[in-house]
Amino acid sequence: MSFPVIRNRRLRSSSALRSLVRENQVTVNDVVQPIFVTHGEGIKDEIPSMPGVYHFSLDRLEEEISEITALGIQAILLFGVPEHKDAIGTSAYDDKGIVQRATHRIKELNPSLLIIADTCLCQFTDTGHCGVIHHHPITGQADVHNDLSLELLVRTAVSQAKAGADIIAPSNMMDGYVQAIRAGLDEAGFDNVPIMAYSVKYASAYYGPFRDAAHSTPQFGDRKTYQMDPANSREALREAESDVIEGADFLMVKPALAYMDIIRMLKDNFDLPVVAYNVSAEYSMIKAAAAQGWINEEAIVMETMTSFKRAGADIILTYFAKDIARYLQNR
Ligand code: PBG
Ligand code: ZN
Repeated sequence: MSFPVIRNRRLRSSSALRSLVRENQVTVNDVVQPIFVTHGEGIKDEIPSMPGVYHFSLDRLEEEISEITALGIQAILLFGVPEHKDAIGTSAYDDKGIVQRATHRIKELNPSLLIIADTCLCQFTDTGHCGVIHHHPITGQADVHNDLSLELLVRTAVSQAKAGADIIAPSNMMDGYVQAIRAGLDEAGFDNVPIMAYSVKYASAYYGPFRDAAHSTPQFGDRKTYQMDPANSREALREAESDVIEGADFLMVKPALAYMDIIRMLKDNFDLPVVAYNVSAEYSMIKAAAAQGWINEEAIVMETMTSFKRAGADIILTYFAKDIARYLQNR
């Protein structure tokens, strides 16, 4: 009788041995909690498609920030739902806009909590697009105008930095956005504020619940002329490379779950921190199945997060951040 020469099970024989050889681990330092702030007063409304995620008005932010702080989470990603929308997204770069006011408020509540400001126009434009719409002079076809949008995005980023944002995270997928925002920040004296570039952002159906939450559904058409085609991977290298050349400090892949090959590709090809955005529908799908009793939520969440790390993510933006912090505390 011949015995196996190679016994891989040897290193799996006890929990202590398994943890000794474990290659990847999720810690509370790796996760970022997104927060939605809305105009109005006394509001803490659950987003129906994202159980456990809320819209907060400024006066209700305190409870959320205390909870996040108590859990040891180091960073939040801030989204704003403004009262006023127009063609050029004016409230995005209003120094008294919802994101700017929320930033001030959060800095009052906990000055050391890192505020990552999402820099885009889609919550602020009446078209729901990530930039200003321009009609083709001959065909009349409507599309987002790249360079005109850049100007407004730069104003938004500078206004966010002025309000106290620690990191600028532009999610608009315009060409040249990192260079434009870097120059704008530097000129305004914010040369030390890093840019977390949404470098590889796919035109994805996984953003559905977020658009309910952020009221940012495009009013016509889709985002396929600026966000990437899910069928492509080599193009992701070009997107990341241009952002690196233009001065990005972090590279993001979004969504995460269906794009782990892209996370790995950026990790292998660049030396900047890689960020995975575990987006809204990735959250909703797990919450929905867990609510049915079909899956073990904690086990599924931790396995998914560990897999992002294994794929190469250094940082994970996830609506599960608070849940993860709680799981880790109770281990
Ligand atoms: C907007 C933006 C989107 C997300 C973050 N910023 C959606 C979109 O492009 O429509 C998605 C986040 C999520 O689904 O959790 N630029
Ligand atoms: Zn947008």
